[in-house]
Amino acid sequence: MFITFEGIDFSGKSTQIKLLKDYITEKGKDVLVIREPGGGEIEEKIRNILLDKKNLEMTPETEILLFSASRAQLVRKTIIPALEKGTIVISDRFHDSTTAYQGYGRLLPLDTVLKISEFAIKGAIPDITFFIDIPVAEARKRKIEQGHDTLDRIEKMEDDFFGRVREGYLDIARKEKRFRILNGCEKKDDVHEMILKELMRTGLTNV
Ligand code: TMP
Repeated sequence: MFITFEGIDFSGKSTQIKLLKDYITEKGKDVLVIREPGGGEIEEKIRNILLDKKNLEMTPETEILLFSASRAQLVRKTIIPALEKGTIVISDRFHDSTTAYQGYGRLLPLDTVLKISEFAIKGAIPDITFFIDIPVAEARKRKIEQGHDTLDRIEKMEDDFFGRVREGYLDIARKEKRFRILNGCEKKDDVHEMILKELMRTGLTNV
Protein backbone atom coordinates (compact mmCIF):
# COMPACT_ATOMS: atom_id res chain seq x y z
CA MET A 1 0.00 0.00 0.00
CA PHE A 2 1.27 3.38 -1.05
CA ILE A 3 -0.01 6.47 0.80
CA THR A 4 1.03 10.02 -0.04
CA PHE A 5 0.53 13.33 1.75
CA GLU A 6 0.32 16.64 -0.08
CA GLY A 7 -0.25 20.28 0.78
CA ILE A 8 1.25 23.74 0.47
CA ASP A 9 4.22 24.50 2.72
CA PHE A 10 3.31 24.69 6.46
CA SER A 11 0.14 22.63 6.04
CA GLY A 12 1.12 20.22 8.84
CA LYS A 13 1.75 17.14 6.67
CA SER A 14 4.75 15.99 8.69
CA THR A 15 2.77 15.94 11.97
CA GLN A 16 0.06 13.80 10.38
CA ILE A 17 2.60 11.45 8.82
CA LYS A 18 4.23 10.89 12.21
CA LEU A 19 0.86 10.14 13.86
CA LEU A 20 -0.05 7.66 11.11
CA LYS A 21 3.36 6.02 11.21
CA ASP A 22 3.11 5.52 15.00
CA TYR A 23 -0.39 4.08 14.60
CA ILE A 24 0.71 1.55 11.96
CA THR A 25 3.87 0.61 13.87
CA GLU A 26 1.84 -0.03 17.04
CA LYS A 27 -0.25 -2.47 15.03
CA GLY A 28 2.96 -4.39 14.27
CA LYS A 29 2.98 -3.64 10.54
CA ASP A 30 6.01 -2.74 8.46
CA VAL A 31 5.95 0.89 7.43
CA LEU A 32 8.45 3.03 5.56
CA VAL A 33 8.24 6.82 5.66
CA ILE A 34 10.06 8.82 3.00
CA ARG A 35 10.12 12.45 2.02
CA GLU A 36 10.36 14.12 -1.35
CA PRO A 37 12.63 15.39 -2.60
CA GLY A 38 15.02 13.13 -0.71
CA GLY A 39 15.03 9.65 0.73
CA GLY A 40 18.32 8.11 -0.41
CA GLU A 41 21.86 9.47 -0.67
CA ILE A 42 21.59 10.69 -4.27
CA GLU A 43 18.09 12.06 -3.66
CA GLU A 44 19.27 14.06 -0.62
CA LYS A 45 22.06 15.62 -2.71
CA ILE A 46 19.47 16.68 -5.30
CA ARG A 47 17.29 18.03 -2.45
CA ASN A 48 20.13 20.25 -1.27
CA ILE A 49 20.55 21.74 -4.75
CA LEU A 50 16.80 22.29 -5.08
CA LEU A 51 16.24 23.98 -1.74
CA ASP A 52 19.49 25.96 -1.44
CA LYS A 53 18.49 29.63 -1.03
CA LYS A 54 21.56 30.63 -3.03
CA ASN A 55 20.25 28.94 -6.20
CA LEU A 56 18.01 31.84 -7.17
CA GLU A 57 18.98 31.50 -10.84
CA MET A 58 17.39 28.04 -11.19
CA THR A 59 14.91 27.92 -14.08
CA PRO A 60 11.52 26.17 -13.73
CA GLU A 61 12.66 23.63 -16.33
CA THR A 62 15.77 22.72 -14.32
CA GLU A 63 13.63 22.59 -11.19
CA ILE A 64 11.10 20.10 -12.57
CA LEU A 65 13.84 17.86 -13.97
CA LEU A 66 15.70 17.80 -10.65
CA PHE A 67 12.55 17.00 -8.64
CA SER A 68 11.77 14.27 -11.17
CA ALA A 69 15.33 12.93 -11.13
CA SER A 70 15.16 12.55 -7.36
CA ARG A 71 11.78 10.81 -7.68
CA ALA A 72 12.98 8.44 -10.43
CA GLN A 73 15.79 7.29 -8.14
CA LEU A 74 13.54 6.93 -5.09
CA VAL A 75 10.86 5.00 -6.97
CA ARG A 76 13.25 2.46 -8.45
CA LYS A 77 15.64 2.02 -5.52
CA THR A 78 13.27 2.32 -2.57
CA ILE A 79 9.53 2.59 -3.21
CA ILE A 80 8.95 -0.29 -5.63
CA PRO A 81 11.21 -2.75 -3.70
CA ALA A 82 9.45 -1.86 -0.42
CA LEU A 83 5.96 -2.26 -1.91
CA GLU A 84 7.00 -5.61 -3.39
CA LYS A 85 7.99 -6.78 0.11
CA GLY A 86 4.53 -5.81 1.40
CA THR A 87 5.78 -2.78 3.36
CA ILE A 88 3.33 0.09 3.71
CA VAL A 89 4.99 3.15 2.15
CA ILE A 90 4.07 6.67 3.25
CA SER A 91 5.57 9.51 1.26
CA ASP A 92 5.72 13.13 2.35
CA ARG A 93 4.96 14.55 -1.13
CA PHE A 94 5.08 12.73 -4.49
CA HIS A 95 4.28 13.48 -8.13
CA ASP A 96 1.21 15.60 -7.29
CA SER A 97 3.63 18.13 -5.75
CA THR A 98 5.23 18.50 -9.17
CA THR A 99 1.85 19.04 -10.84
CA ALA A 100 0.84 21.61 -8.21
CA TYR A 101 4.17 23.46 -7.73
CA GLN A 102 5.81 23.27 -11.17
CA GLY A 103 2.61 23.03 -13.24
CA TYR A 104 0.21 25.41 -11.47
CA GLY A 105 2.78 27.35 -9.40
CA ARG A 106 5.56 27.87 -11.97
CA LEU A 107 3.08 27.75 -14.88
CA LEU A 108 4.94 25.07 -16.87
CA PRO A 109 2.69 23.40 -19.50
CA LEU A 110 0.63 20.78 -17.69
CA ASP A 111 0.77 18.13 -20.42
CA THR A 112 4.60 18.23 -20.33
CA VAL A 113 4.62 18.16 -16.51
CA LEU A 114 2.38 15.06 -16.48
CA LYS A 115 4.52 13.31 -19.11
CA ILE A 116 7.73 13.93 -17.15
CA SER A 117 6.07 12.62 -13.96
CA GLU A 118 4.76 9.54 -15.74
CA PHE A 119 8.30 8.74 -16.89
CA ALA A 120 9.73 9.31 -13.40
CA ILE A 121 7.23 7.23 -11.39
CA LYS A 122 7.19 4.06 -13.52
CA GLY A 123 3.54 3.32 -12.76
CA ALA A 124 3.89 3.74 -8.98
CA ILE A 125 0.62 5.63 -8.50
CA PRO A 126 -0.39 6.11 -4.84
CA ASP A 127 -3.42 4.15 -3.58
CA ILE A 128 -4.62 7.15 -1.61
CA THR A 129 -3.47 10.76 -1.30
CA PHE A 130 -4.28 13.01 1.65
CA PHE A 131 -4.29 16.68 0.74
CA ILE A 132 -3.99 18.73 3.92
CA ASP A 133 -5.59 21.99 2.92
CA ILE A 134 -4.90 25.34 4.61
CA PRO A 135 -5.58 28.85 3.31
CA VAL A 136 -2.53 30.79 2.10
CA ALA A 137 -3.07 33.35 4.91
CA GLU A 138 -2.74 30.57 7.50
CA ALA A 139 0.44 29.33 5.78
CA ARG A 140 1.83 32.86 5.91
CA LYS A 141 1.04 33.09 9.66
CA ARG A 142 2.85 29.79 10.33
CA LYS A 143 5.76 30.87 8.11
CA ILE A 144 6.22 34.09 10.12
CA GLU A 145 6.10 32.11 13.38
CA GLN A 146 8.87 29.83 12.09
CA GLY A 147 11.11 32.79 11.22
CA HIS A 148 12.45 34.02 7.90
CA ASP A 149 16.05 32.84 8.36
CA THR A 150 15.14 29.16 8.25
CA LEU A 151 13.12 29.37 5.01
CA ASP A 152 14.35 27.46 1.93
CA ARG A 153 14.30 28.67 -1.71
CA ILE A 154 10.71 27.58 -2.34
CA GLU A 155 9.28 28.52 1.07
CA LYS A 156 10.49 32.05 0.35
CA MET A 157 8.11 32.37 -2.62
CA GLU A 158 5.34 34.97 -2.45
CA ASP A 159 1.68 34.34 -1.51
CA ASP A 160 0.49 34.48 -5.15
CA PHE A 161 2.64 31.46 -5.94
CA PHE A 162 1.19 29.46 -3.03
CA GLY A 163 -2.30 30.56 -4.04
CA ARG A 164 -1.77 29.02 -7.48
CA VAL A 165 -0.27 25.85 -5.92
CA ARG A 166 -3.30 25.49 -3.63
CA GLU A 167 -5.72 25.98 -6.52
CA GLY A 168 -3.71 23.38 -8.41
CA TYR A 169 -4.17 20.85 -5.64
CA LEU A 170 -7.91 21.55 -5.52
CA ASP A 171 -8.04 21.02 -9.27
CA ILE A 172 -6.18 17.70 -9.03
CA ALA A 173 -8.56 16.68 -6.20
CA ARG A 174 -11.52 17.24 -8.51
CA LYS A 175 -9.95 14.93 -11.12
CA GLU A 176 -8.32 12.18 -9.04
CA LYS A 177 -10.53 9.72 -7.14
CA ARG A 178 -7.63 8.79 -4.81
CA PHE A 179 -7.52 12.36 -3.39
CA ARG A 180 -8.98 13.14 0.05
CA ILE A 181 -9.15 16.77 1.16
CA LEU A 182 -8.64 17.39 4.88
CA ASN A 183 -8.95 20.70 6.70
CA GLY A 184 -5.47 21.45 8.03
CA CYS A 185 -6.85 24.13 10.37
CA GLU A 186 -8.64 21.51 12.51
CA LYS A 187 -6.97 20.07 15.63
CA LYS A 188 -4.21 17.62 14.75
CA ASP A 189 -5.89 14.70 16.59
CA ASP A 190 -9.14 15.30 14.72
CA VAL A 191 -7.32 15.32 11.37
CA HIS A 192 -5.58 12.08 12.36
CA GLU A 193 -8.94 10.44 13.21
CA MET A 194 -10.31 11.52 9.84
CA ILE A 195 -7.32 9.96 8.08
CA LEU A 196 -7.88 6.63 9.86
CA LYS A 197 -11.61 6.74 9.09
CA GLU A 198 -10.91 7.48 5.45
CA LEU A 199 -8.45 4.57 5.19
CA MET A 200 -11.09 2.21 6.62
CA ARG A 201 -13.87 3.66 4.46
CA THR A 202 -11.76 3.18 1.35
CA GLY A 203 -11.21 -0.45 2.22
CA LEU A 204 -7.49 0.03 2.90
CA THR A 205 -8.01 -2.03 6.05
CA ASN A 206 -4.53 -3.46 5.83
CA VAL A 207 -3.49 -0.42 7.88
P1 TMP B 1 9.07 19.97 2.04
O1 TMP B 1 9.28 21.38 2.58
O2 TMP B 1 7.67 19.47 2.20
O3 TMP B 1 10.12 19.01 2.47
O4 TMP B 1 9.20 20.08 0.43
C1 TMP B 1 10.23 20.71 -0.17
C2 TMP B 1 9.78 21.85 -1.06
O5 TMP B 1 9.84 21.43 -2.42
C3 TMP B 1 8.37 22.37 -0.83
O6 TMP B 1 8.43 23.78 -0.88
C4 TMP B 1 7.60 21.86 -2.01
C5 TMP B 1 8.63 21.75 -3.09
N1 TMP B 1 8.38 20.69 -4.10
C6 TMP B 1 8.13 21.07 -5.43
O7 TMP B 1 8.12 22.25 -5.75
N2 TMP B 1 7.94 20.08 -6.35
C7 TMP B 1 8.00 18.74 -6.04
O8 TMP B 1 7.82 17.89 -6.91
C8 TMP B 1 8.26 18.38 -4.65
C9 TMP B 1 8.34 16.95 -4.26
C10 TMP B 1 8.44 19.40 -3.74
